[in-house]
Amino acid sequence: MAERQVLIEVKDLKKYFKVGKNAVLKAVDGVNFKIYKGETLGLVGESGCGKTTCGKTVMGLYEATGGQVIFDGTDIHSLNRREKKEFTKRAQIIFQDPYSSLNPRMTVGDIIGEGIDIHGLCHGKEREEKIHELLELVGLNREHASRFPHEFSGGQRQRIGIARALAIEPEFIVCDEPISALDVSIQAQVVNLLIELQQKKNLTYLFIAHDLSMVKHISDRVGVMYLGNMVEFASSDELYAEPLHPYTTALMSAIPIPDPDAEKEKKRIPIEGEIPSPINPKPGCRFAARCRYATDQCRQETPELAEVKPDHFVACHRTMELNK
Ligand SMILES: Nc1ncnc2c1ncn2[C@@H]1O[C@H](COP(=O)(O)OP(=O)(O)O)[C@@H](O)[C@H]1O
Ligand code: SF4
Ligand SMILES: [Mg+2]
Repeated sequence: MAERQVLIEVKDLKKYFKVGKNAVLKAVDGVNFKIYKGETLGLVGESGCGKTTCGKTVMGLYEATGGQVIFDGTDIHSLNRREKKEFTKRAQIIFQDPYSSLNPRMTVGDIIGEGIDIHGLCHGKEREEKIHELLELVGLNREHASRFPHEFSGGQRQRIGIARALAIEPEFIVCDEPISALDVSIQAQVVNLLIELQQKKNLTYLFIAHDLSMVKHISDRVGVMYLGNMVEFASSDELYAEPLHPYTTALMSAIPIPDPDAEKEKKRIPIEGEIPSPINPKPGCRFAARCRYATDQCRQETPELAEVKPDHFVACHRTMELNK
């Protein structure tokens, strides 16, 4: 296989928020990963574990508290204004909520055309034609350009959000739970559209979701986040075949199996309690309070992400021990 080209490298990325006088909320706390050109990296974890913050910091929408985001060889947090504008032409984000992410007072045509105007890509008839092409590309039609967001369903609005992101022909798109707010019946349509567009335009995706079943179909590799940390990282096939971290195993057991008999037989591993607060987190493994295998070592020493099998990384003392 040809050597894969790294498009983005995230190194020890941290994003902390100051909350109150002496409290620090560690939303993203030392995350590492690479995204290869043309692949989809899935990022999963419960609500509040830091996925959106990670995506926004990777996009440069938040300053990083620490670490680096190297995009095509350059740290995006050290760019000057001109370079930053160039970067925003190459990287785009699709937001979770198709209801609040589109300006209700702008026509669909102007929403899609905004990026084209900012980057001065084309004007007049050519711009109009481009907007029509984009609408058709995402499965809408040219008449929709003169309408307003409220006239559309959730699924259609997400298609508008996708067209807006594609308007400037980016290479990389952060898809932040693009289907979570949609009816189950149209989630697959939007995922399939994203896959089709990726193939047509050789796009690279960071695809964020809160449940594993959603990322399975689209991701080449998957990272599992827990409370600001990456706890497991592997190819999609490997992760689904053999999840190793106790948190991933529990998440996986919550995915319904389509076969009713197998579903009845299946053991669900409940995760006790709520996700703890990321404010002034305790030392040790952040999953310890909810992990049925937790030992004193877990409560004292933070497990590092380590390669326990080829290309399969886990941050867990027990898993390391079992796979020695
Ligand atoms: N702008 C902010 N200021 C303070 N805290 C924030 C901010 N954005 C997110 N957080 C907190 O950071 C943590 C991670 O949030 P987020 O990245 O939105 O998680 P996810 O996308 O996985 O649901 C949460 O505890 C959230 O309350
Ligand atoms: S390090 Fe310990 S507490 Fe954390 S997941 Fe592994 S066994 Fe559970
Ligand atoms: Mg989020």
